[in-house]
Amino acid sequence: MAGVGPEQQPTGRDSAVHLPPDEGDDVPSPPKSPSNAPEVPAVPTSNPIETLSFNANPDVAAQHDSDNEDAFPSGDSAYDSESLLGDDTMTLASFITEYRTENGRQYHAYRDGAYWGPNDEPANETQDLAHHMYLLTLDGKLHLAPIENNPHRILDVGTGTGIWAIDMADQYPSAAVVGTDLSAIQPDFVPPNCSFEVDDVTLEWTYPEDHFDFIHIREMFGSIPDWDYFFQQCFRCVRPGGWVEIVEHSVQPTADDETVPEDHFYRLWGRTVIEMGGRFGKTFNIWQESREKMEQAGFVEVTEIRYKWPMNGWSSDAKMREIGRWNQLRLHEGVEGMMLRLLTVAGGWSFQRAQLFLHEMRKNLKDYDTHAYLEGTVVYGRRPWQS
Ligand SMILES: C[S@@+](CC[C@H](N)C(=O)[O-])C[C@H]1O[C@@H](n2cnc3c(N)ncnc32)[C@H](O)[C@@H]1O
Repeated sequence: MAGVGPEQQPTGRDSAVHLPPDEGDDVPSPPKSPSNAPEVPAVPTSNPIETLSFNANPDVAAQHDSDNEDAFPSGDSAYDSESLLGDDTMTLASFITEYRTENGRQYHAYRDGAYWGPNDEPANETQDLAHHMYLLTLDGKLHLAPIENNPHRILDVGTGTGIWAIDMADQYPSAAVVGTDLSAIQPDFVPPNCSFEVDDVTLEWTYPEDHFDFIHIREMFGSIPDWDYFFQQCFRCVRPGGWVEIVEHSVQPTADDETVPEDHFYRLWGRTVIEMGGRFGKTFNIWQESREKMEQAGFVEVTEIRYKWPMNGWSSDAKMREIGRWNQLRLHEGVEGMMLRLLTVAGGWSFQRAQLFLHEMRKNLKDYDTHAYLEGTVVYGRRPWQS
């Protein structure tokens, strides 16, 4: 695809930002960001945790329902002819979509305060950039778990803009792909076999046992208070023989040479994010704990693949340099969204102090003499056939 280099990409809120030039070839344009906050035709539900579903194409989604009666229990479905659309619907929809503004950024309203990141357009662009980077990292693949060719039900936990779920629905027309999130920021026009639900995944899941062929989790770091409980729920809701995959990365830049010594700002940055996650009660270290936790939950054939995301285009390796350039842009534009709430709310920092810290990070991101990278893992495992 004819590309636009990172320095020419839209830069979110700060359009004056210019990233360092790079001598590399053009890089592909990132995926277009889905439109913001759809009008949600939400329904009240008998589900005690208020899961709300919506889909751009009710007819086809209903077809998936009728393929298997219990695929989407009627009480959870917005496209069910017996849905109880009424006043309660408006109440539920508004407490989901009347987003909170904090320090100039927009945050989710449902389970107010549970998640650290904004759900505004700049934050959504950052997420979609990350999706592009994951595709580059995994050589164009949406997952590494060896799922079968014709899956029926796929869950994307904390789907964000829904970009992965949408791509998966395109790739697997046999599957009903469901993405859940606290925010209803997914686009209206999605493949007919893709739908979204507003849900808090930290609560007890109301999906039936043995339900999904594949459960996908990506960048839920800092979002889950009890990962053991979370993986138990995955284990219960994926079918025997089905797969769960989790993709996460470190928040602590490191290097293989001497360019990130202990007194480097990147070390302070990493320690600070980890500390804020601790205060928030949700770890950012899950990238290195996933394999063990999945094994403890009972998954078998657990496989861990490690990857690296350079902090900018310092690497001489073409693939690493390209990923690094995107990472530089993602972080340059994204660090405010990643850290502002954590620093000011969990850390109690003033807005000004937080901005100085973020400014220092952006400055360091332009230093090509520092050979720093973030390490990450893709971990997948299978629920045993006999379990
Ligand atoms: C960093 S984003 C990752 C989005 C997506 N998984 C991706 O990789 O493109 C994390 C997402 O998890 C969602 N999230 C956080 N806590 C959640 C919770 N308790 N229940 C559901 N979604 C949650 C956030 O709203 C956000 O959209």
